[in-house]
This record gives sequence, C-alpha cells and structure tokens, in this order.
Amino acid sequence: MRLILVGPPGAGKGTQATAISTGYAIPHISTGDMLRAAVKGQTPLGLAADAAMKRGDLVPDDVVIGMVVERIAAADAERGFLLDGFPRTRPQAEALSTALRDAGVKLDAVVLMEVPDELIVERIVGRRSDPVTGEIYHLSFRPAQDPEVAARLVQRADDTREACEARLAKYHAETAPIVPYYEELGILRRVDGVGAPKEVELRVAAALRGV
Ligand code: AP5
Repeated sequence: MRLILVGPPGAGKGTQATAISTGYAIPHISTGDMLRAAVKGQTPLGLAADAAMKRGDLVPDDVVIGMVVERIAAADAERGFLLDGFPRTRPQAEALSTALRDAGVKLDAVVLMEVPDELIVERIVGRRSDPVTGEIYHLSFRPAQDPEVAARLVQRADDTREACEARLAKYHAETAPIVPYYEELGILRRVDGVGAPKEVELRVAAALRGV
C-alpha cells in the first residue's frame, strides 16, 4: 500500500500516521521528522534546512525531493509506505509521480485531512512531543498521563504562533494546489479532521476501505 497524508500544519497527520502505518505494516516516512533529525545531527542538509523551518518556510524542493526519492527506494519501503508531509508543492508531486513510474509502481490513495484554520493555532502551540518515544501530546487535548513522561516533553522550535501562521499561509499557497492534481487521478480521499483523535482514526480507516 502506497499512501500519502496531506493536510495543514496541526491537522493531525503525525497523530494518525502511527495507526495507519501499523495497520498496513508500512513505514511512516515524515519529511518533517527527517529534516528535524538532520537539524539535530547538524548534517549539511540540516544546516541548510534549519533557518527555513524555524521561519515556517518550506525547505527547497530539490533538497526534499532528493531525500524522499532515496528514502522510498530503501528495502523497507518496497511493499509500500506512508508519506507524511510530502509532497507539499506541485513540483514535489510531479517528481514523486516520476519516481514511482520509473520504479513501475503506483500510489494507492492520498488522504486529505481537513481542519479549519481557526483550530490550527491552538493545536500547534499546545503540542508537545516525547523525545524518548516520539509520541505526540497536547497540553489540553492529549495530556501525558505519566508524570515522568509529562516532565520530559519538549516543544518544537517551529511551534510558535508566528511560525504557525507562516506555515498555514504556505499550506494554502503551495500545498493546497496539489489537491486537484490527486483529485484528477481519482485517488483523493477527504477526511474530516475535527473531533477526537480516535474518531478521526475511524474516519481514516473508513476512507481507506476498499483501496
Ligand atoms: P512537518 O513536521 O511536516 O509539519 P506540518 O506539516 O506543519 O505538520 P505538523 O507536524 O505541524 O502537524 P500534524 O498534521 O502532523 O499534526 P499533529 O498530529 O502533530 O514540517 C515541518 C517543517 O519542515 C515545514 O514547515 C517545512 O519547513 C519542512 N518540511 C517538511 N516537509 C517538507 C516538504 N515536503 N517540502 C518542504 N519543506 C518541508 O497534531 C498537532 C497537535 O494537535 C498535537 O498536539 C496533537 O496532539 C493535536 N491533535 C491531533 N489530532 C487532534 C484531534 N483530532 N483533536 C484535537 N487535537 C488533536
């Protein structure tokens, strides 16, 4: 199964990705996570991406495309993958189509998680993650129950109100236009991302039934 999760920042892509990748036994490939690991490791790619990410800007297409094309060619992605945060621009969507065509495989579905802008900032500024497990929490919507976990939670560098607003503007300007591209291919599945995470998980599962 080859799947893509698309949606605005804070739509819940990372939150839903675990259940999907576990359910289909496919790797969860998050370009945001890959870029954050590169920033942390101070690799040349990370140094190039750091400033753009902190501002809420996109990292240049050529950098991200090279990274993803290499990642999906890895052995663990042979039987499928869940892409989260890629593609984010029309050139990225076209580069992915070319890479898959060259490999003789095709995408099965693109899940679009729809959440209105007015809910996004609250979700983003309250987000915390566990540096040990990678699990995503929220101060109000999904607080950590274990005090030891709660004490070690961290906030992402780009989860400020300013960077969030910049990311949302980028989403509407550059990422939303890829939606018609996948709609025309007949593989777009729209999912309402408003509601408890478990409710959204059931909607995603329903949207993928029969794919
Ligand atoms: P990336 O890490 O991909 O960030 P994003 O797309 O902005 O998405 P987020 O991770 O912010 O949100 P999410 O949808 O995963 O939401 P989550 O589940 O955490 O990218 C970061 C940066 O990297 C980009 O800005 C860019 O610079 C760069 N980059 C990445 N990919 C790139 C590419 N392809 N090209 C160029 N640059 C790229 O949920 C958010 C919060 O809400 C959490 O606290 C969660 O607990 C809570 N929550 C989740 N679901 C619900 C719910 N149903 N109800 C209430 N709260 C909920």
